[in-house]
Amino acid sequence: MNGLFRQSWIFVGLKLELQGNVHQGMRVGNKEILLQCDEAGKPRAFLNVCSHRHARLCEPGTHRGFVRCPYHSWVYDKTGVPLSVPQRQAFPQVVAEPEKFRLHEFACDAAGEFIFVRLSEEGPSLREYLGSQYAFLERASEGMDTVLDEFREDVGANWKVVIENALEGYHVPSVHSGTFMEVDGMSREKEAPRFFFDDTRHSHLEHEANADWVARFKRMESRIGRWPWRFEHYTHHHIFPNLTVTSFMGYSFHVQRFDPTAAETTTVHSRTLGVKFEGSTEAGKKMMEHIHADGHAFTRKVFAEDGGICAKVQAGVRHATKLAVLGEGIEDRVRHFHRAYMSETNK
Ligand code: FES
Ligand SMILES: [Fe+2]
Repeated sequence: MNGLFRQSWIFVGLKLELQGNVHQGMRVGNKEILLQCDEAGKPRAFLNVCSHRHARLCEPGTHRGFVRCPYHSWVYDKTGVPLSVPQRQAFPQVVAEPEKFRLHEFACDAAGEFIFVRLSEEGPSLREYLGSQYAFLERASEGMDTVLDEFREDVGANWKVVIENALEGYHVPSVHSGTFMEVDGMSREKEAPRFFFDDTRHSHLEHEANADWVARFKRMESRIGRWPWRFEHYTHHHIFPNLTVTSFMGYSFHVQRFDPTAAETTTVHSRTLGVKFEGSTEAGKKMMEHIHADGHAFTRKVFAEDGGICAKVQAGVRHATKLAVLGEGIEDRVRHFHRAYMSETNK
């Protein structure tokens, strides 16, 4: 918390969730954060602590309207400056120079829809930090317009165990025999997933779609319509330390944030984002609704299976006496994560 989650850019949410006059309270690392967009639409992150006598300004979650302190009702504007103070005659210094009483602000920037916060004052820009993932997030954001599905759940394991689980497909036949193995559309070729390690912190994979499945899907596309970024594979991106973004063919994106809420608890915030379609017929829209509904049920089932196995891993890790063994190829992304973790924590 004091090292990695302070110096890294941490994913906090999406710009589309901050539209309208809203603000959000959340925890980032070991800090309480208040997130809102300023008048220019730029996302900004503030310490969620009132400048008056330090009450927590807002509870976790999304709230409408300006930030108003629950204690004495100081109201803050979009740049964190106190806008109104009841009994203003008692606070001449605040009325004269409200800027001086601005909420503490953290570095906050976005790649497309994806908003990140960095708690430490110094460090790389978001663009430098993300490397090649910056362009991916920008591209994935094209036409992204709705949260189709969302859930938050705890997993009884350290966050690193949960990330490691997300980074390998080796456990799929064993843990997801009744789910993933039945999924249509994925190529069964052994060499199908390709790993990319262009960035020292992040990694991603691409898994070709099954050719017959793509051909069948193509026949429906005149009804389904067009969407901004169509590709013919499944992609899974890990953005260090705790964000994954996955998609099959680009018609929706799964965004999962893994928060270390305790040493042996990870809170997972999962969202499925939809993108704009053009030229879809009524029948095509219905088809997409079915595809999405199947997707939501599938995501939850896979999540439950992974959560269950991660708790078992944690139970074992607690008593482990030797180093783990990592497979060649199949567990290379786990190894890459270990290297990134070691180099970032030694900074
Ligand atoms: S503590 Fe916030 S207004 Fe008094
Ligand atoms: Fe899994």
